[in-house]
Amino acid sequence: MRMYDIIEKKKQGKELSKEEIEYIIREYSADKLPDYQVSALLMAIFFKGMTMDETVNLTMAMANSGDVLDLSKINGIKVDKHSTGGVGDKTSLVVAPIVASLGVPVAKMSGRGLGHTGGTIDKLESFTGFKTVISDDDFIKQVNDIKIALVGQTANLAPADKKLYALRDVTATVNQKSLIASSIMSKKIASGADKIVLDVKCGSGAFMNNYDDAYDLATIMVNIGEMVGRETIAVISDMNEPLGRYVGNALEVKEAIDVLSGKGEERLTDLCITLASNMYMMGSDTDSYDLAKEEVLRVIREGKALDKLAELVKTQGGDENQVYHPETLPKALYCMDVLAEQDGYLASCKTSEVGMTSLILGGGRETKESEIDLSVGIRIDKRLGEHVDKGERIAVLYANESEKLEDAKKRFVNAYTFSDTEVKAEPLIKKIISRKDIMA
Ligand code: URA
Repeated sequence: MRMYDIIEKKKQGKELSKEEIEYIIREYSADKLPDYQVSALLMAIFFKGMTMDETVNLTMAMANSGDVLDLSKINGIKVDKHSTGGVGDKTSLVVAPIVASLGVPVAKMSGRGLGHTGGTIDKLESFTGFKTVISDDDFIKQVNDIKIALVGQTANLAPADKKLYALRDVTATVNQKSLIASSIMSKKIASGADKIVLDVKCGSGAFMNNYDDAYDLATIMVNIGEMVGRETIAVISDMNEPLGRYVGNALEVKEAIDVLSGKGEERLTDLCITLASNMYMMGSDTDSYDLAKEEVLRVIREGKALDKLAELVKTQGGDENQVYHPETLPKALYCMDVLAEQDGYLASCKTSEVGMTSLILGGGRETKESEIDLSVGIRIDKRLGEHVDKGERIAVLYANESEKLEDAKKRFVNAYTFSDTEVKAEPLIKKIISRKDIMA
C-alpha cells in the first residue's frame, strides 16, 4: 500500500477501504508516515468528507491504537457521558452522582481544560486533597463499592487520535464532522463504556456554531455507536451563552452543589436532569423517560445525590465537608463588578470570549503545561434576552491578581451585544437523537 495512492483516491472523493484506514493509523502511529502526507490526506478528507463506513473504520482503528479498558469486572451497565465542550459546563459533576445514587455505575475518565473550555478533573481538584489518579484495580473496586469514580485519563487511550488531533490542530482540519465524531467516539469506545450519552453543544462557544452542523455531528456519533454495538444518544444543547451562572473551577463546583441541593439555576438544572434521566434509562430497566426523571428528582430532593458526591470526594481522598460547606472551597482575593454600559436587551454572546475572560483571570490553560488558579472566574447575573439598565450589574469577575481584572473586564464586555428591541433566548435543549431517529 502507498500513502500517495490513498491521498489520490480521497482527493477524487472515493471511499477508502478498512485496510487502507487501518494502514494509515498503524503506520502513522509508528512514525512511519510523514506529517506532510497525513496532512494532505486530512485536507482531502476535509473537502471530500468520509462515508459512515470510513468513519466507523477510522474510529475503531484509533480506539484500538492503545489501551482498551475492560470494565467487565464492574457490575451493571456502564453508561458514560461526554460533552463536546463548552463554557460553564459543570454537568458531569452533577449528573455522575445523581446516576450513581440511583445504582447505575459511573466509571468516568475525564479531561482537563484547555483554551476557553474547562475540564471536570480540574474542577474536582477544588476539593482539598482530591486525588484524580488511582490504579486501574482501585478504580474498578471503587465503582463496585460506591458506584462512582471520576478520574483523569491515565491509560494510553486512543494515542493515534492524540497524534492525529495535534496534526489537525496545526493544519486547519479540526472542524470536520467525521473527524470530530471519530475522535470523540474512539476515546469513549476505548474507555470501555457499554452505552454513551453525548451532550453536543451548539452555538458561539462550541465547535458547532449552528444547529444543522450540530445535528449532523450528533447523528454521525449516534450512528457510530449503533454500528459498533454501543448504544448512544445525543442531546443537542445551546452554547450561545455560558451554561449556568458561574464560569471558573471552584465557582462551578459550588454551582454543581447548588444543583444537587435543588437550588440550581433553571437552565443548568434542566440540562442536568435531562442528561441524568437518559443515563438512568440506559443503565436500568426503566424505559419511561417520565419515570426516570421522577427518580432523578427524588434523589436530588432526598439529598442522596449530594451525599453521593460527598462519598466520592471522601473516597478519592478529598475533604467531603466542603460538599456541605461550599463556602470553604478556594476563594479569590479580589472581585470587580461589570456594569452595563447602555440600556437594552442582551442580544448575543460570544461564549468563547467569556471562556477567554476566565482564562485571563487565571482560570484556564493556554498550553497543556499552564498552571491554573482554581478560585478565579466569573459570576454572570444576566442571561440573553433579559433587559438591563445602564449601570446595572451584569457580572462579577474574581481574581487573585487585581491587575488582571481590567483586561478581563474589557474582554467580557466585548463578548456581548445589546438590542433596543426584545430578544428571544434560544431554547436550551434543541433535540435528542437516539437509535430510533437514525433508523427512521
Ligand atoms: N473533541 C475531541 O475529542 N476531538 C475532536 O476532534 C473535537 C473535540
